[in-house]
Amino acid sequence: MQVKILTGYPDIFPGALNHSVVGNALKKNIWSLEVINLHDFSYDQRKSIDDEPFGGGPGMIIRPDIVEKALLSIKYEENINRKLVYLTPSGKSLNQIKLAEYSQLDQLIILCGRFEGVDQRVVKALNFEEISIGDYVLAGGEIPAQVLVEGCIRLLPGVLGQSKSLLEESFSNNLLEYPQYTRPQVWKDIRNNEHEVPKVLLSGHHEKIKQWRLDQSVEKTKLNRPDLIEKKKKE
Ligand SMILES: C[S@@+](CC[C@H](N)C(=O)[O-])C[C@H]1O[C@@H](n2cnc3c(N)ncnc32)[C@H](O)[C@@H]1O
Repeated sequence: MQVKILTGYPDIFPGALNHSVVGNALKKNIWSLEVINLHDFSYDQRKSIDDEPFGGGPGMIIRPDIVEKALLSIKYEENINRKLVYLTPSGKSLNQIKLAEYSQLDQLIILCGRFEGVDQRVVKALNFEEISIGDYVLAGGEIPAQVLVEGCIRLLPGVLGQSKSLLEESFSNNLLEYPQYTRPQVWKDIRNNEHEVPKVLLSGHHEKIKQWRLDQSVEKTKLNRPDLIEKKKKE
């Protein structure tokens, strides 16, 4: 899978994408990353990429001609499955289903906004899908891009050591994952309080463990994400 990032801040990449399972997959060429600097397509000596908003208001807007020129620098390949994404707080919410959809692509092109955003004409004309990573506003699209790419790449075959871990994790089946525990079996904290691992996990009884985990998943989802329980009821 090819990932191409259009950004005014290329130094932010590969960032988190160079580490752990996703970074290892990059080294193994399971996916590739090309970072395209919008400033290389600037219209003036100062390498500007933005201008004032029509109609007034604070901040600057990334120009449509710059984005188009940057996009045209990518070698066009016929018959590949590709998608263009613009990261914006005013986009559709990113979720696990969307990530799974993107993980099927041959090429994913991501536009990172800055300042007050990007001229809407280029978003519309070039058919960028508008995606938000959450109901809050960050300063730029580079961290959201890393969130999206990391979430997507870990779904590719051969990226995770154990692909089984994808089956039971949060959001599969509209449930959150059950709580997990590891050694030591009894953890003594600095106030000398002892915390034990739930006994059922030490029982070796697979059926009981499975049922306990499911019950815990449901409880945690009810508590933290009741909206998912409502979705599950409609399944
Ligand atoms: C300061 S924000 C612009 C916010 C915009 N004026 C608005 O109110 O919707 C600058 C850039 O950060 C990125 N960004 C900020 N928050 C984001 C979010 N929650 N999801 C995706 N991208 C985000 C986008 O690329 C956006 O163009």
